Amino acid sequence: MFTKLSIASIAITGLAIMVSIKFMQVPSTPALDPDPWWGPGEPRPDDTTIRPFEIDIAKEDIDSLKLRLDLPLRITPPLEGANFTYGMNQNTLEKIVAYWKDSYDWKQREKRLNQYPHFKTQIEGLDIHFLRVAPQLPENQEVKVFPLLMVHGWPGSFVEFYNILPLLTTLQDRSNVVFEVICPSIPGFGFSQSSIKQGLAQMETAQIFLKLMKRLGFEKFYIQGGDWGSLVVNLMATLYPENILGVHTNFIMARTPGSLAKMVLGSVLPTGIVMDEKDGNRLYPLSKLFSRLLRESGYLHIQSTKPDTVGAALNQSPVGLAAYILEKFSTWTHKENPHLPDGGLLQEDFPLSLDQMLDNICVYWFTGTITSSMRYYAENSGQAETLDIMDRIPCLVPAGLSSFPQELLDMPKSLAAHKFYNIVYYAEHTEGGHFIAMERPNLLAQDIHQFVMTVEKGRVL
Ligand SMILES: *[C@@H]1O[C@H](CO)[C@@H](O)[C@H](O)[C@H]1NC(C)=O
Repeated sequence: MFTKLSIASIAITGLAIMVSIKFMQVPSTPALDPDPWWGPGEPRPDDTTIRPFEIDIAKEDIDSLKLRLDLPLRITPPLEGANFTYGMNQNTLEKIVAYWKDSYDWKQREKRLNQYPHFKTQIEGLDIHFLRVAPQLPENQEVKVFPLLMVHGWPGSFVEFYNILPLLTTLQDRSNVVFEVICPSIPGFGFSQSSIKQGLAQMETAQIFLKLMKRLGFEKFYIQGGDWGSLVVNLMATLYPENILGVHTNFIMARTPGSLAKMVLGSVLPTGIVMDEKDGNRLYPLSKLFSRLLRESGYLHIQSTKPDTVGAALNQSPVGLAAYILEKFSTWTHKENPHLPDGGLLQEDFPLSLDQMLDNICVYWFTGTITSSMRYYAENSGQAETLDIMDRIPCLVPAGLSSFPQELLDMPKSLAAHKFYNIVYYAEHTEGGHFIAMERPNLLAQDIHQFVMTVEKGRVL
């Protein structure tokens, strides 16, 4: 038995070494059209003015939403004892729709969303929306200010950052840095215009956001993201190292041949050979990870292939849209939430407030961007080859990684190091999930402050 196992191990190791040698050369960066035009009409120079923008949803749009929410609900009662394991529990949905109709006041919420300055500017033919939040500098105290670009994900939006913004733009305990924070909306999400042409994926987004930061006068800046935001900022760090002071992410993904080989080998080889015990305990058995991914990634396959079909339904019905998005807020904040009758959403200690989740849903509803946001998956799948190459190009700028136990994908430092060659900060948290900037803004803000201070200290030495 033992010999059989060791022969198998040697064979697998040999194979892995051969494969990694084949992939060891760093590929060259795929070419990217430096000046595409995604908007309507003929390509022409962008209008580069930066226009202040205020959210002001027209009365007729608010009335139209109310009309739809007032329609009798067509509820399919959940199966007995199913809770959220079949998706959005419709008894819970009924309660949330009642709250949305009777208690949630959009005009009040809109005021809150307008508390930070919004802007739009045209890039590559599209109006790009962003928040730009200036720091509040304390008097008589030496503080360094750094620009920080923060990128949201799906089914989130710029709304994800409202809880964390005050913690980044003011001085915090044990920190001597504050941030000027720029939160753009990815094209096709919320108030950023959608491309009318095919092919606007992560690479293109990275280029648009670099142009945005340069237009705002920032040649060098920090970047942060989760979900799609993390993939976009990782690309920015890999493509534009001369502009990026450091990259921080709370969605840790290193899809390199080395990290994947190590992950698979570690699952068959005895502990300690490629994977130490602590990391092994986090990752294995892989079947647990894969079965969660399989259970939770149906949306990803639909959106990567036929986003417009489901999009048609969601854009007609605010109730359907809420169900689709709320299911993600439930399941991605805690692995066990599908086993609760309300998916956790109505529990007192649920880390996200219903008002904030509805703000985010309203942004998708009023802008009519659920379909274009879902298309982002299809566009990125269409560029899998380019993105695979990018994954194999090391990220050399200082990286800060924050790992949260309820996150969908999570990697120990030893695996992440196959992509991020310069990890200066790695935090492993004991609580928190996918929407961490909203859920536990304190934890993420602390990590960002610590990360940037670490980078800056290193720079002086
Ligand atoms: C559903 O919730 C009930 C009550 O909390 C619990 O007893 C039951 O085990 C749950 N079932 C599933 C399938 O999650």
